[in-house]
Amino acid sequence: MNTIFTDLLLKWDKKSNLRPMPWKGEKDPYKIWLSEIILQQTRVEQGWSYYERFVSTYPNVQALANAKENQVFKLWEGLGYYNRCRNLLFTAKYIVNELNGIFPSNYDDLLNLKGVGPYTAAAIASFAYNLPYAVVDGNVFRVFARYYGIHTPTDTKEGLAAFNKIAAENLAVTKAGIYNQALMDFGATVCKPMSPLCANCVMQNTCAAFAQNKVGQLPIKLKVIQKKKRFFDYFLFMLDGKVWIQKREFGDIWAGLYQFYLVENDKLVIADDAYFKEVLKNQLMIGINEVTIMSKSKTYQQLLTHQLLTLRFITIELKTMPKAFEHGEWVNAKKMNKYAFPKTINTFLQDQNN
Ligand code: ADE
Repeated sequence: MNTIFTDLLLKWDKKSNLRPMPWKGEKDPYKIWLSEIILQQTRVEQGWSYYERFVSTYPNVQALANAKENQVFKLWEGLGYYNRCRNLLFTAKYIVNELNGIFPSNYDDLLNLKGVGPYTAAAIASFAYNLPYAVVDGNVFRVFARYYGIHTPTDTKEGLAAFNKIAAENLAVTKAGIYNQALMDFGATVCKPMSPLCANCVMQNTCAAFAQNKVGQLPIKLKVIQKKKRFFDYFLFMLDGKVWIQKREFGDIWAGLYQFYLVENDKLVIADDAYFKEVLKNQLMIGINEVTIMSKSKTYQQLLTHQLLTLRFITIELKTMPKAFEHGEWVNAKKMNKYAFPKTINTFLQDQNN
């Protein structure tokens, strides 16, 4: 049922929403799915070119299902949250092999796909098939918390139930696709987290937060995420123009991406000869006299959702091939750009070239 909010939003969409995006108005569920997976935890500006590259490289689900895993990861490189990429491939194969290549066309079957949660299922169901499912995410929490003056924390069971109810009540049932996209766009361009454009907002007269001067306080979130601190020392072993790299395993960040020889510590240890000796001798059975320590990088930091990483890179030239290297490969240093690395490793490699 349409509320005042719904009508104002649809009017705003028609008259003032000029946000261009390559997936807007798309009806192909494959492309919509692709865009929505890319946009999970990624800003539109960043996701845009990735979407275009994916669509042109893999124009349909069959092309993606038949792609080489390393190539898909390479195309994904820089987007982070690599589980999304893994699920993308898994789901493409599942659709081709188990569903005869036919994309699911109802909400429950969409929700069954790996990597597709309620938000993404609602987005695909409404954009591709105009089915009446409302999207609910952080943007939607913010818009409704402000418009209806809701103080229930969004990260509680009660909050989620309240916002789901409101989202369903405001959904333009016969125009779900247009409505959902309008709501996303309104949250991203007008009712923004910081400096929302209240002065010219079409909702101003009926917005509870605006009336009560509480726009800056809403929505309310209960928990502050504690970030785990991790310290990564990457030993970049070189031998005859080759570099030792290794694919990261499942069960931790960056699974499926490549890295150098990793020593993880629970604090920042002093990178002196004693430390190098210990790593080389104890872990790799290499004497310190058998290597040349070429360089030690500055300290890099990378913030993930739940972790703060501190990274250093120690470049070491070996004189002979050590015995103890396992689960990795020696690759030509010039061919490293064929492999997908985590963001900070790429930043370090770029710094080396400058
Ligand atoms: N975020 C997630 N899906 C989106 C979409 N379709 N448009 C803009 N931002 C989005």
